Amino acid sequence: MYICPVCRKKLNKIENTWKCVNGHSFDIARKGHVNLLTTAKHNPKTAGDNADMVKARTEFLDKGYYRPLAEKIREIASAELQEIKNPIIIDSGCGEGFYTVELSKLEKADIYGIDISKHAVAHCMTRVHQASVNNCEFAVASSFDLPFANNSADAVISVFAPVCNDEYARVLKKGGKLIVVSPSPRHLFELKAAVYDKPYENKPNDYHLDRFVGDNEIVFEYTAELSSQKDIFDLFMMTPYFYKTSEEGISRLKALDSINVNCGFVIQVYKRK
Ligand SMILES: C[S@@+](CC[C@H](N)C(=O)[O-])C[C@H]1O[C@@H](n2cnc3c(N)ncnc32)[C@H](O)[C@@H]1O
Ligand SMILES: [Zn+2]
Repeated sequence: MYICPVCRKKLNKIENTWKCVNGHSFDIARKGHVNLLTTAKHNPKTAGDNADMVKARTEFLDKGYYRPLAEKIREIASAELQEIKNPIIIDSGCGEGFYTVELSKLEKADIYGIDISKHAVAHCMTRVHQASVNNCEFAVASSFDLPFANNSADAVISVFAPVCNDEYARVLKKGGKLIVVSPSPRHLFELKAAVYDKPYENKPNDYHLDRFVGDNEIVFEYTAELSSQKDIFDLFMMTPYFYKTSEEGISRLKALDSINVNCGFVIQVYKRK
């Protein structure tokens, strides 16, 4: 399934290495993932979420607040792929693997998670080992330069992660599905209201997906009660607001012990033209 990030020939697994015919080789880490990010294109040391962000995300996700979303994404993927015997699914920008491992419950599916953060991908392998999953592979790679052959995947899933029209169209088979999950306008509004004087609603993203046709759009919302200061702060660290908030805003946030928040998601399904 993987292609060489240098010459784009197929990679073959030979012992603990992925190798192409031109002699480029990529070692499989002790945990089982592979780094296919070439330093010429990106700096894998600094790219994507750092170790603290990954830790906060994992600790928050493990509390289960977003489990309903993970189950919803799996249900939608299952329905969209029901006619395909052995679907190949790419979770692009998979983070620390929470949704990827949920997708692994799809029968006879092979799941490939990629993320530009080596810290995030290393944690995916921890999830895989904890859940004894055997149909997921993980690589450090960029969504803008996926290490997969043309027309090779049945679905690409992007949960709060970059969306790349041309690259996703390249790796998807004709008619393949792109599932994009993004925040709804009122997602975490109460959290923003606690921090900002003038909280704003999220604006819908325009991904310029001209290689796709829109197939379905589901708005999925529920209320979660965040019941500790730590959970509130871990969630805040997962959001883009974390780096844009003043000291005063952070102090207001740290004064909260619990809060009811709207968890609102837009799940868009597109079909590759
Ligand atoms: C908001 S997080 C979402 C992670 C995961 N899908 C989740 O919802 O838990 C965005 C993720 O995109 C990754 N990312 C950012 N730029 C990327 C790129 N160019 N290619 C692949 N992943 C990228 C980050 O490292 C991070 O893990
Ligand atoms: Zn090569």
